[in-house]
Amino acid sequence: MANGFDKFAFETAQMARIGWFFGQKLVAARLSRPLPAPARWRARKLPDRRRLLSDLWRLIDADWRNIAAGVYAAPEDWRGNPLAELRRAADFFADLRAVEARRHGALADRLLNGPEAAHYPAYYRRKFHFQSDGYLSEASAQRYDHQVEVLFGGGAAAMRRQGLVPLRAALHRVGASRARLLDVGCGTGEFLREAKRNYPRLAVTGIDLSTPYLAVARRRLSAWSRVQLITAAAEAMPFPDAAFDVASCVYLFHELPARVRRAVVAEIARVLRPGGTLILVDSLQKGDEPDYDSLLDYFPLAFHEPYYAGYVREDLDRLMQPGFSPEARSLAYFSKVVTYRRGGPPPT
Ligand SMILES: C[S@@+](CC[C@H](N)C(=O)[O-])C[C@H]1O[C@@H](n2cnc3c(N)ncnc32)[C@H](O)[C@@H]1O
Repeated sequence: MANGFDKFAFETAQMARIGWFFGQKLVAARLSRPLPAPARWRARKLPDRRRLLSDLWRLIDADWRNIAAGVYAAPEDWRGNPLAELRRAADFFADLRAVEARRHGALADRLLNGPEAAHYPAYYRRKFHFQSDGYLSEASAQRYDHQVEVLFGGGAAAMRRQGLVPLRAALHRVGASRARLLDVGCGTGEFLREAKRNYPRLAVTGIDLSTPYLAVARRRLSAWSRVQLITAAAEAMPFPDAAFDVASCVYLFHELPARVRRAVVAEIARVLRPGGTLILVDSLQKGDEPDYDSLLDYFPLAFHEPYYAGYVREDLDRLMQPGFSPEARSLAYFSKVVTYRRGGPPPT
């Protein structure tokens, strides 16, 4: 049972964490040259720093309420080695010059053209977020989580944790030690690690196109058994029909072109058993938080997200037809968590 001291310790740690990552976000912004935005956007109002920090703290507060209510365990995301954190920050800033050159460079600088990229679908051969090597190197995999935390000022882990709320409800129906969870586009395994910390006996499978990202996930999940990590495309998964009870998809959909999004939904519907749960954690969409709409327009320009503008306008409930029906929806700072149930007969 959480007490007043636990809350104090949690909030102090989260404040320090936000100071660390939000501070780097501000320094990185200082070191970057603003991008020329289309003239018609210049008069648009963006949420200021005070608003962003206050909304971020609202997320941290909701995070604490979930922890205090026993929905999920308190995170360990501030217990890193300070030297390793410093090294990651140094690496992030060392790479910033190359990121900045790409941001102001030609389209060709954003594409992956080397022989290592030739085996991947064309839409994937991109340096998403302007990051060096796209998703295709060990250095990129090592840098990814730090980069994402800086982008969200220290809120990324707490946003991702909101996916644990519907996960708990879904596992309650099946039983965590009997259930099979599939995380589609699992990247470096952050969501799976949180799932295993909370449900050590849960059988989890992660798939991703990036072998280097899966290598990081493998190290991160090495303490647990019943973990399977597979290099595969989400639109052609190497699993039989109805193989999973729960599927999660964390920050994948906004990186897929519209037609691939549809193929992935169909594939998840195939591998999820009837009555199974799909948990989507992804960006806010237009109109979810009207004051953020301008930011959603700037984001794909500032961070090279070629399919994002389409995603934020996508009608998710329609996208999920006919296989899924909507179950729950909540906003979490820059993210939205949406849960769907797979149609069809309930399990026997
Ligand atoms: C923004 S990252 C999200 C990673 C992780 N889920 C997280 O919470 O940080 C997107 C991930 O999706 C993977 N990905 C993109 N397209 C994919 C596809 N068609 N099939 C499988 N993985 C894909 C990328 O390699 C990358 O690891």
